[in-house]
Amino acid sequence: MKTTLALAFIAAGLVLGNAARAETKGSLNSTDEKFIKEAAMHGKAEVRISQLGIGKADDKAVKGIAEQMVKDHTMLNTELETLAKSKGVDLSVAGDPKADKAIANLEKESGKDFDKAFLKELQKGHKDTISAFESESKDGKDSEIKAWVDKSLPTIRGHLDHIKGTMKGK
Ligand SMILES: [Fe+2]
Repeated sequence: MKTTLALAFIAAGLVLGNAARAETKGSLNSTDEKFIKEAAMHGKAEVRISQLGIGKADDKAVKGIAEQMVKDHTMLNTELETLAKSKGVDLSVAGDPKADKAIANLEKESGKDFDKAFLKELQKGHKDTISAFESESKDGKDSEIKAWVDKSLPTIRGHLDHIKGTMKGK
């Protein structure tokens, strides 16, 4: 009887151990993995584009947005990197041609034209990010990634409102 009980405990322990592992390293399904990689790439692009904005913005409010984007997205990127690491996902990417192109186009602009083009680029980036986050919130499987997505969405939605509000005055 004692042996049976001990075996039952061992078996339960193994089941629980496996369940716990399923939430961590190397266990992500393709939707979650694709999301995490794309979110990281977009997040990095957002910081690079906004760093350019800090240097080139004509209007004080636009520069303020650029500074807020660098601050908030650097924080989000760090959180996402920690999360990815815990799931065994490597976020190092060879490059981001889309961001390179956007930056090259923005570098050609100056003054008020830069501000307009910069806000437009930020608006597009945030719309894409919000729709990717909303899809992951709905279709993702990993509970920790989904929790991070739901926690981060209000910040990103707030950015889009701020960007749109500033665009109205331009
Ligand atoms: Fe943002």
